[in-house]
Amino acid sequence: MALITKKIKGTEDVLPKESYKWQFVEKIMREEARSYGFREIRTPVFEHTELFARGVGQTTDVVQKEMYTFDTKGGESVTLRPEGTSGAARAVLEHALENEGLPIKASYFVSCYRYEKPQAGRLREFHQFGIEEYGTQDPVADAELISLASSVINRLQLDSVHLQINSIGCPTCRAEYHKALKSYFEGYKDKLCDTCLSRLDKNPMRILDCKSPICSEIAKDAPKITDYLCDECRNHFDAVQKYLDAAGIEYTVDPTIVRGLDYYTKTVFEFVTDCIGAQGTVCGGGRYDGLIEELGGKHLPSLGFAMGMERLLMVMDKQGIEIPDNDECMLYIATMGDAAKVKAFELIKQVRSCGMIAETDVIGRGLRAQMKYADKIDARYSIVLGDNEIEQNTAKVKNMETGETAEVTLDGHFMERFVEIQLSDEQKNK
Ligand code: HAM
Repeated sequence: MALITKKIKGTEDVLPKESYKWQFVEKIMREEARSYGFREIRTPVFEHTELFARGVGQTTDVVQKEMYTFDTKGGESVTLRPEGTSGAARAVLEHALENEGLPIKASYFVSCYRYEKPQAGRLREFHQFGIEEYGTQDPVADAELISLASSVINRLQLDSVHLQINSIGCPTCRAEYHKALKSYFEGYKDKLCDTCLSRLDKNPMRILDCKSPICSEIAKDAPKITDYLCDECRNHFDAVQKYLDAAGIEYTVDPTIVRGLDYYTKTVFEFVTDCIGAQGTVCGGGRYDGLIEELGGKHLPSLGFAMGMERLLMVMDKQGIEIPDNDECMLYIATMGDAAKVKAFELIKQVRSCGMIAETDVIGRGLRAQMKYADKIDARYSIVLGDNEIEQNTAKVKNMETGETAEVTLDGHFMERFVEIQLSDEQKNK
């Protein structure tokens, strides 16, 4: 029978045999976020469209071309989140978290949705680990955030990933910069794509991250924001670099980084690799001092970053980094007959309640097929229970690797004895 449907283009399944890789990476992220004092925030997968239009910005590719927007039955326009920052900011505002003390520190794992042209490392549904911090304009916070991202990348042992930083200034210095950009791009009016032409008046900086080859070629020689920074932004950027230097975090200053979202001010940064093809940015972030006000709150200078889970896993795979799979089955109990099946059900519960992985037959297969399954799942030990074992209240525990066996009683001492056997095997292996 033919499948009635397959997964949607640009989406991926994470299968049970691969999910340990995600869990390993997520665990490291959770631990690092926690050690910097961040706690998890969970927000809905969809929000009112207006939130992203205002937050991410009307003239961005994300809002103009990539959002999954639809009308609900009640006539509201809602959008699947294309990123995590806007939803987190909305929640911070809605729950007036600034009244509970500053800074507010939040981390998250989210699925995001962008209608982009799928290619290696570019999906329509992808996943981010993100960090947001609200209520500080101190450059030490920028450096601390970069340090957190860098710790995650180091703990994942990604050695081909490099940090690039830039400052894109504040509304004051950006006004001058916009003028310079506008007059530069006006000279290429006949070559720019239609979207960029419409950006020329409203937001010429967005032309810098247009994906069309012609526009990006023209953008290469455009004026650089670093030549237009006001004193405050320049000092802020110098201070961020001073802290990064003090912490021994390596970076390069790249004046072409402008990021693709409108809310950024001052510091922006990306962690980039060239080992996974064109989509090599594994982490992006920066300061967004005006976003909270833009969304209707008070002035609350803030900053954050997000890492692309799929891209990080691609880099790990490319670099051949081994991810430990700790989901090893400790005991498989094979059964013959009804009484044995009931006993196995009872024993296996004891093993599991001690935090070990244990399995028994739930399909009603014959003994040979059960043992084949035990091999397939790499069970460390197995027991075969039949009428004899039940009658004598004892069974043999087999070490599946060495073939050695040891006896256990099927009573209240079962777990105690089983643990003894494991410890004695561990001793032998030392
Ligand atoms: P972004 O640069 O759009 O920033 O996305 C962050 C990361 O998500 C990228 O560096 C990349 O690793 C991953 N990513 C983005 N688009 C895709 C895609 N189509 N397929 C696979 N991975 C993708 C943001 O989203 C900001 N909200 C980051 C931030 C948080 N800034 C401040 N706080």
